[in-house]
Amino acid sequence: MSLVRIAIFISGGGSNAEKIITHFQNHETIKVVLLLSNNPEAYGLQRAARYNISTLVFNKSQFRESDEIVSMLKAAGVTHIVLAGFLWLIPQNLIEAFPNRIINIHPALLPKFGGKGMYGMRVHEAVQAAGESETGITIHEVNAHYDEGKVLAQHKCRVEKSDSPEQIAAKVQQLEHHYYPKVIEKWATSL
Ligand code: GAR
Repeated sequence: MSLVRIAIFISGGGSNAEKIITHFQNHETIKVVLLLSNNPEAYGLQRAARYNISTLVFNKSQFRESDEIVSMLKAAGVTHIVLAGFLWLIPQNLIEAFPNRIINIHPALLPKFGGKGMYGMRVHEAVQAAGESETGITIHEVNAHYDEGKVLAQHKCRVEKSDSPEQIAAKVQQLEHHYYPKVIEKWATSL
């Protein structure tokens, strides 16, 4: 069986990244080898370091205007890329270097509440403002447009009229932590 070597990209807290790291800690064929961030202050960098995962911070020009990141990922033997709260659009060179090998999680039921600028609490605020009775998570492949790749899994939760955006966020986060590592495992071993 071929080995899967995952790089996780984050921009913030990294709670999903931590769940993914612990899920694969003793896995026979899947290993998280690297965690990258555009944000030097991202708390997820500290989480990764606790598990002895190598980390790397990069800036916009390294990411968008050079092949530095692609070369580094290839040199590290990375086979699959997982976005977990990563807020920059993925450039074409990275998509071409990892065709169908990049996955993302979005904290709503796409195509609703997706697209540029829709991330984190903004999504939950929009869900509440729209008076939705349900929301959830979407796990999808990544292409050159925000939130548009092939959907791999969706899971739902109820939204009560009285729910605050924070309460909605907590319900969605539970779904994320429960399902994202499992869906990544299935996806990575099926390719
Ligand atoms: C997660 O809810 C993820 O779905 C969302 O950012 C959060 C990151 O949390 N991603 C997006 O909104 C992407 N459009 P975490 O840093 O604690 O894992």
